[in-house]
Amino acid sequence: MRHHIVIRAAKASDVPRIGELLAPAAAAKLILPRSDDELFQHLQEFLLAEYDGNAVGVVAMHIYGTNLGEVRSLVVDPQYRAHGVGRLLVEACERWAKGLGIVRLFALTYVPEFFQALGYVRVSKESLPHKIWTVCVHCAKFAECDEVAVQKQLSDAPVLPMTMPPIIEAIEGD
Ligand SMILES: CC(C)(COP(=O)(O)OP(=O)(O)OC[C@H]1O[C@@H](n2cnc3c(N)ncnc32)[C@H](O)[C@@H]1OP(=O)(O)O)[C@@H](O)C(=O)NCCC(=O)NCCS
Repeated sequence: MRHHIVIRAAKASDVPRIGELLAPAAAAKLILPRSDDELFQHLQEFLLAEYDGNAVGVVAMHIYGTNLGEVRSLVVDPQYRAHGVGRLLVEACERWAKGLGIVRLFALTYVPEFFQALGYVRVSKESLPHKIWTVCVHCAKFAECDEVAVQKQLSDAPVLPMTMPPIIEAIEGD
């Protein structure tokens, strides 16, 4: 049977479902917890995966600078795992990052094998810039972080301008 998977930008009305997807993984300490307030404040960072019209996966991409972005808050509903949804979410972040002119993505993770299957390589956490720890200081495990850092160089080629259609296009004058 064929199934339709769509990765799209999150909307404000998705916040309750994003919260539902993230909560079990946060309780299991696989990802950092995100409050609804925080989800609204960072909504532009989130992508949602729909599988046959059901919202089954989420990811966020946080930007640190022209050369660095982070894949975070990645969760696929356990009932829909191993169907390629996680891969598509990360690939969508990569495409999005490239369009924004970001050439390297990293993640801090307990599933480095998943990221390695997508072309990421392990790096030492110390090799990542200091400013990425601003979020980590809120984590209970900060002092003894046992996550693995992985990263992927997206492209050495000149970065193409983003190909999103303009939100408004107007003609002024005669
Ligand atoms: C990690 C997670 C997002 C993967 O989602 P998924 O939809 O099941 O992954 P996919 O089906 O797209 O798998 C893509 C590839 O990764 C591999 N993979 C997936 N999960 C894996 C795991 N836990 N360990 C090793 N490899 C894994 C798959 O075999 C597949 O490889 P292939 O394409 O060569 O066959 C999902 O298991 C999850 O939500 N885990 C709990 C939260 C979590 O740990 N998030 C990561 C935070 S950084």
